[in-house]
Amino acid sequence: MTATSPRLKHEVKDLALAPLGRQRIEWAGREMPVLRQIRDRFAQEKPFAGIRLSACCHVTTETAHLAIALKAGGADALLIASNPLSTQDDVAACLVADYDIPVFAIKGEDNDTYHRHVQIALDHRPNIIIDDGSDVVATLIQQRPHQIADLIGTTEETTTGIVRLRAMFRDGVLTFPAMNVNDADTKHFFDNRYGTGQSTLDGIIRATNVLLAGKNIVVVGYGWCGKGTALRARGLGANVIVTEIDPIRAIEAVMDGFRVLPMAEAAPVGDLFITVTGNKHVIRGEHFDVMKDGAIVCNSGHFDLEIDLKTLAEKATEVKNVRPFTQEYRLNSGKSIVVLGEGRLINLAAAEGHPSAVMDMSFANQALAAEYLVKNKGKLQAGLHSIPTEVDQNIALLKLQAMGIEIDTLTPDQHEYINSWTSGT
Ligand code: ADE
Repeated sequence: MTATSPRLKHEVKDLALAPLGRQRIEWAGREMPVLRQIRDRFAQEKPFAGIRLSACCHVTTETAHLAIALKAGGADALLIASNPLSTQDDVAACLVADYDIPVFAIKGEDNDTYHRHVQIALDHRPNIIIDDGSDVVATLIQQRPHQIADLIGTTEETTTGIVRLRAMFRDGVLTFPAMNVNDADTKHFFDNRYGTGQSTLDGIIRATNVLLAGKNIVVVGYGWCGKGTALRARGLGANVIVTEIDPIRAIEAVMDGFRVLPMAEAAPVGDLFITVTGNKHVIRGEHFDVMKDGAIVCNSGHFDLEIDLKTLAEKATEVKNVRPFTQEYRLNSGKSIVVLGEGRLINLAAAEGHPSAVMDMSFANQALAAEYLVKNKGKLQAGLHSIPTEVDQNIALLKLQAMGIEIDTLTPDQHEYINSWTSGT
């Protein structure tokens, strides 16, 4: 449904889904105590009064809480989807109907619609951009450089976006501050590792209902997302094989107890392949050629180019939907390869993304990073900025408090010792 009145500008699937969305957003909120505290403070202090903010995120129950917190803080906030397949249509409906937040996101939207929504995010003339993957920022720089003057800064959620921002800085086009949310400890240690680990396997199981115990699962990439995925796959009884291009990560995988193989050797033995590299075509023609009949491939990296689906389609005589988010490619050779979620993030396409308890910390970082940009308007240099350590530590403390877990503090003697260099052996 599309509406263009100034107050209720939106493009969502069906506003009648709002009550279901509201119920699910409330459920997620139970696991998001840190963001709730931030929202309550924002409601008092209104740090975003007069600020136009465009957020490009996966439109989920957790993102709803971020959007609600930003609006409570006075932001004129607009939300678009950061992936064509990750939107929860009931959540999008609820944000429009119950919170008056303009949302442009429909699960299954085509690429043209996705890019049109990116343009709508920029039509909003944002002072702050919250990005997940850097598509809005890249489009701003490439197509609307005149709008950079409106921008206080951007915040970036994910590893892929950070890699792109670094490349922009290297090329001299990142001329404004960008807060690196992904690399905050309270973000990537939990969201990338435990969030991706659990939600990726959740997506695979919801899509296929296959038993994972005893399967050979090939985890492609051993960054934080790969570590979490491998850990959880092992927990479900799979034989986990890791492939890597980074020698240090490969040693980590070996010492974490996984078998490490080049993809050429992993391809013929894997039953299920999960890509989490951030790079393109890590599974490609030569690998499909040697895979077992019925091998399943899926991706949990940000973009849908990790698996070379174009080449797979060229090798196929037939592509059949066999279950929701599950397509069987029958090849000339007679065998078939099964692709989940069209090669898009399987955890968000077939499941609900990372659980709320980890997104609580990720989005606490987002909310505080956006506030930091506004508070330091005009004072920050162009380029990437880390989340201040005090902010990161405080999010961890609030999370521990909410979990009812106490920790020790340094004694004065320990404090003095740890800050001095004079006493050694
Ligand atoms: N990225 C991964 N999981 C997510 C979630 N549940 N909400 C928003 N962004 C996400």
